[in-house]
Amino acid sequence: MTQEAQNDKFCLSRRAFLLSGGTAAGIVAVTGIPGLVDAALQTATYPRRKIGQVSKLKVDVPLVVQYPGKDPNSMAYLVKLGKSAGGGVGPKGDIVAFSTLCSHMGGPLIGTYKGKHKVLGPCPFHLTTFDLSRHGLVVAGQATESLPQVRLEVKGDDIYATGVMGLIYGYHDNLAIQG
Ligand code: FES
Repeated sequence: MTQEAQNDKFCLSRRAFLLSGGTAAGIVAVTGIPGLVDAALQTATYPRRKIGQVSKLKVDVPLVVQYPGKDPNSMAYLVKLGKSAGGGVGPKGDIVAFSTLCSHMGGPLIGTYKGKHKVLGPCPFHLTTFDLSRHGLVVAGQATESLPQVRLEVKGDDIYATGVMGLIYGYHDNLAIQG
């Protein structure tokens, strides 16, 4: 088989991908490279953990909670913003939670919440500020990645953390022990 033919065999054309339904199974069928799919489909299984109660939260008074891991650096800010937010839960959709480690180089963000603007920051290291009402988007500063947001659910009065969107700074896996 010529080099060109070999390349064609392993090359995933747009047309072939669309014809396969654009699925992981389609990738295996077309490429014959199962490892590629394993990597694509690998997702963390997060603990579902109660981290607070709706009735106990006051607007603009954040709580520091342990999530997602048991590592001392694996902490999140749980805050009721008082206005609806991306990913917000509760009757007003205004309860959100975010990693306390800056996405740039892990600067500690505890104590930097500004209720007036619903932001976390500026980070003490390089001054990045994150908008908690818009999925932790960078408002200003050095970071290029949003602040990882904790996925929340409310059942009755209880608030549960069920996962994290985004990689927490310093971890190769959000559930790993940092070392
Ligand atoms: S570590 Fe936060 S801005 Fe650099």
